[in-house]
Amino acid sequence: MSRLIVVSNRTPGKTVAAGGLAVALRKTLSEREGFWFGWSGKLTDSPSVQARFEDVEGLSVATIDLTRDDHQAYYAGFSNSILWPSFHLRLDLAHIDSTWYEGYRRVNQQFAQALLPLLKPDDVIWVHDYHLIPLASELRSLGATNRMGFYLHIPFPTADALYAIPHHLDLMRDVSRYDLVGMQANRDVAAFTEAVENMTHTNLAGDPLQLFDFARTEVAAFPIGSDPGAFSRMSVSSAASKMVKRMERVLAGQQLILGVDRLDYSKGLPQRVEAYEKLLENNNDLRRRVHMLQIAPPSRDTIKEYQETSDALDAICGRVMGRFADPDWAPITYVKRAYGQATLAGFYRMARVGLVTPLRDGMNLVAHEFISSQNPADPGVLVLSRFAGAAEIFEDAILVNPFDTDETAAALRLALVMPLEERKARWRTLMAAAEKHNVDDWSKGFLHRLSPVVAAPSQPARDIIYLG
Ligand code: F6P
Repeated sequence: MSRLIVVSNRTPGKTVAAGGLAVALRKTLSEREGFWFGWSGKLTDSPSVQARFEDVEGLSVATIDLTRDDHQAYYAGFSNSILWPSFHLRLDLAHIDSTWYEGYRRVNQQFAQALLPLLKPDDVIWVHDYHLIPLASELRSLGATNRMGFYLHIPFPTADALYAIPHHLDLMRDVSRYDLVGMQANRDVAAFTEAVENMTHTNLAGDPLQLFDFARTEVAAFPIGSDPGAFSRMSVSSAASKMVKRMERVLAGQQLILGVDRLDYSKGLPQRVEAYEKLLENNNDLRRRVHMLQIAPPSRDTIKEYQETSDALDAICGRVMGRFADPDWAPITYVKRAYGQATLAGFYRMARVGLVTPLRDGMNLVAHEFISSQNPADPGVLVLSRFAGAAEIFEDAILVNPFDTDETAAALRLALVMPLEERKARWRTLMAAAEKHNVDDWSKGFLHRLSPVVAAPSQPARDIIYLG
């Protein structure tokens, strides 16, 4: 079997991961020959040209250092101040500074130059996420002919939002240099198709002027998942029970409403706490009987919009405390720290409600993990945003519009009073969906389609073919 080279901005480290990508791919790579390639996490004065290999808990990981300036333009700039907000339809939070594009491109070139000498001709390369859209183009321009796949972990934007991104035509051309492009949800494939169709111009005779050649690129939805068996086991492990016991003492029978998210404006955290505030406001009977725990490890905190989200969340949590707390009762606990998977699994299992209400999200693995950690005899209820990719999978969650805090407050009430039989019935369907869309099958499915034997279609895999 050919080797697998996984490429992503961040590589798996030894610390607690704040996001789901590292968790998802560690297992795939541990079962196959190959290595993980990415940024070392170090910033230097001059860029590194040669990758360093190290063993990270049995995984072979090759990394390069980036210069401070390049990293600023590539990561905080183009990736997270232009692509991230635009792809999440938050153009109001985007900084359209086209000078960052040069740094973004330079880092992708540096990745390609350092990766190329490590490649064998039949290696399969799997590139992850919006930081590295141009990597296939850069590798191909250096002569690499390997099979290359790209997976977008975040939503694909509408055509209008795409047009707001500087150099979006270059980026679309970059996408066409992959053999396989995976997206989280059908909604994203539809948005991509629509964007490509919108970009077809016609000449005066009405003939289509084809901008891109997607003849060799297959674009399809591959919804990511979690490892349900592992979460189920972890939720009752001794590693989980330590924290669970402490929490149980504090809760003393109150029902727990739980949120777990990176501290990011796309997660809808202030709206979520506002919905909880409305729940308490409208339901006197629930006061002192419920407690909300929001875990929100900070991320990208050099970016102003992230600091503002953090401030907004501080303010609204403070307001809820000021309005409803008693000397002997706190309505909410807000923790800005990351926890290990086992501890999270324990929290998920304790919670009567998993509150997963991003304003827009690629998939949202917290929804998967929450479901997988439940006690089948007394499961909690998932309240889920319609705008998470997970909503395409978990139809038996209580689906809400996270912008409508009245609706979310009503959904919370419904979840808290839901009879046991209904909770069990909903959970069984949700768990079946979590098992069906598990992370193992996700990576196997993607890699199967990317493998040289299955691939090499003589016919274009889909209908969006624009010859440039
Ligand atoms: O959700 C997209 C994503 O790139 C995840 O895949 C990743 O785990 C997370 O964001 C972390 O972001 P960052 O590397 O910027 O902290």
